[in-house]
Amino acid sequence: MSKLYMLTETSKFMMSFVIVTENDQAIVVDGGRPADMPLLKQYVGGRHIAAWILTHAHNDHITGFISEMQKNGGADWDIGTVYYNFPPYSLIDNHDVPDYKYMAAELNECLPAFFEVEPLFHDKAHVTAQGETVQIDDCRIDFLFSYHEGLTVNLMNDSSLVFKVTTPQKSVLFLGDLGPQAGDILYRESRHLLQADIVQMAHHGHMNVGMEVYAAVGAEACLWCAPEWLYNEEEIPDYLKDPAYLAPDSSRLRMYGTRMTRNWMDILGAKTHYVTMNGTQEIDL
Ligand SMILES: [Fe+2]
Repeated sequence: MSKLYMLTETSKFMMSFVIVTENDQAIVVDGGRPADMPLLKQYVGGRHIAAWILTHAHNDHITGFISEMQKNGGADWDIGTVYYNFPPYSLIDNHDVPDYKYMAAELNECLPAFFEVEPLFHDKAHVTAQGETVQIDDCRIDFLFSYHEGLTVNLMNDSSLVFKVTTPQKSVLFLGDLGPQAGDILYRESRHLLQADIVQMAHHGHMNVGMEVYAAVGAEACLWCAPEWLYNEEEIPDYLKDPAYLAPDSSRLRMYGTRMTRNWMDILGAKTHYVTMNGTQEIDL
């Protein structure tokens, strides 16, 4: 039997998971920021990391990984393969998008630092794509979504890898930080593949995929990478009322606070809620 650990925040909020397989290998998802590395190291416990999956290039997900590479090329970790699929930095030349300023900021947040250290782990890097499957001991990983061109108004979140980890007992769907627009595409392309026992709530529970995605998943348990303020956020917080933010693209009107997502999950009958604000969570898979 595998075990899933959802690590609590050391930095202000972030996403970090460790799966320990039945043969005692580790699968790491993201890892958070540099401040989150000691806790991650503790849960990896020196195991071989058969897969380190980086969902998308935002600071609360991959700056910890980048900092470990900058420090000593990742020498403190026994890494097998690093899976990722990030948008190309060359999008910076495309000014003909609804909100260029936002897109440019997204591209500059982590990508330059990531590609600077990439040569240090190049032989372990694998740019994965939707449709790929990886088997690690009792865990099968099916990649169900990867970066689609043209999703620029929520560029980095909408480039999140979506994947399902299936063991003989349980399945967990990881949605990364996927937003409404990419969620629509995921639903259209792959709704028949989404069913899972457990779901990682997209984008920490807010400004995320639509209710129909969660309906297709039909999970009984939810994983919330959220501190208290975020878990208890109202349906439409002030920053999602700002016309300047909403105006460039109507898909931003489908971004809601966490309360809305919690309402959906209640309607859909999810029974168990694991939340990082309550500490590191341990789940049998
Ligand atoms: Fe995030």
